[in-house]
Amino acid sequence: MVQNTKKIILTGDRPTGPLHLGHYVGSLKNRVDFQDKYDSYFIIADYQVLTDQLSKTESIEKNIREIVLDYLSVGIDSKKSTIFIQSQIPEIAELTFLLSMLITVARAERNPTVKDEIRASGTKKASLGFISYPVSQAADILCVRADAVPVGKDQLPHIEITREIASTFNRLFGKVFPIPEAIMGQTPTLPGLDGQKMSKSRGNAIFLSDDKKTVGEKVMKAITDPKKIRIDDPGRPEICNIYQYYQAFFPDKAKEVKTLCEAGKIGCVACKKDLAKMLNEFLDPIREKRNNFAKQPNLIKEILEQGRIKTQKRAAETLALVKDAMKIDYRL
Ligand code: TRP
Repeated sequence: MVQNTKKIILTGDRPTGPLHLGHYVGSLKNRVDFQDKYDSYFIIADYQVLTDQLSKTESIEKNIREIVLDYLSVGIDSKKSTIFIQSQIPEIAELTFLLSMLITVARAERNPTVKDEIRASGTKKASLGFISYPVSQAADILCVRADAVPVGKDQLPHIEITREIASTFNRLFGKVFPIPEAIMGQTPTLPGLDGQKMSKSRGNAIFLSDDKKTVGEKVMKAITDPKKIRIDDPGRPEICNIYQYYQAFFPDKAKEVKTLCEAGKIGCVACKKDLAKMLNEFLDPIREKRNNFAKQPNLIKEILEQGRIKTQKRAAETLALVKDAMKIDYRL
């Protein structure tokens, strides 16, 4: 057997809609850079969608397709990385069940991200599946015995639970799992056009798949410094959303914009027009790649099938190790 010398990472997304510039800055860009350094697995966590969107199952399939296109168009390369669908790896469900014995109900309920999500959803009655989704996420990570998980801040409580479960397993049954590290991105979070967190549901996102016109219209509507009314009013880039886009995507231009804005030498309309143009130039090659990939009829199917085969082989191996360690690999 060829020894795997690269460290393994696993991260992914729930297929709830198209990916946006916030995803690009916060994670996709990193993933593209990580591909050569790590043996990378990207999970499309479709079962995790069921935990809180049980009434929208008809859109999952389309969303999976769009996310794969988003991945490929920004440069995730299926020859280097493994992209797979969570529900196509039944070993994950089996491992979820076994791992759920290693965490108390109270511990699962003490997860700040889960608590925030329950609060935000307005339901007082979260399902058992919802409360326990971090255990399923632990199984996503542990089924490939990942060494590290690149994630944003909101996911850290899940990684903590994963580490605890992995340590408990190793202590009780012998070492099977590496204790996965979280890899946090360096970039600050990109705000939505209204200054709130960028998200599809808030309607403040620019999607990687938006066309030129849409990007232009969205940028023109963005909120800037409310005190800068006329061109010659000095602006405060530090509180301006548009400026944060410049910083995230075009840091050299950001310096120039800051000087001009603070000196009252550029108006917000002109500044937004420049940004829209630059963002469209940035998105053009991404759009072109997306169109090319979308034209190839069986491509997505083939990529996901390769991903399934590779992941399932590893997950089956993990499950065999787990059952052996737990002495439940009966030969009866
Ligand atoms: N919960 C993650 C999100 O909503 C998606 C996800 C599912 C994930 N399984 C994972 C992320 C495993 C990292 C590792 O973004």
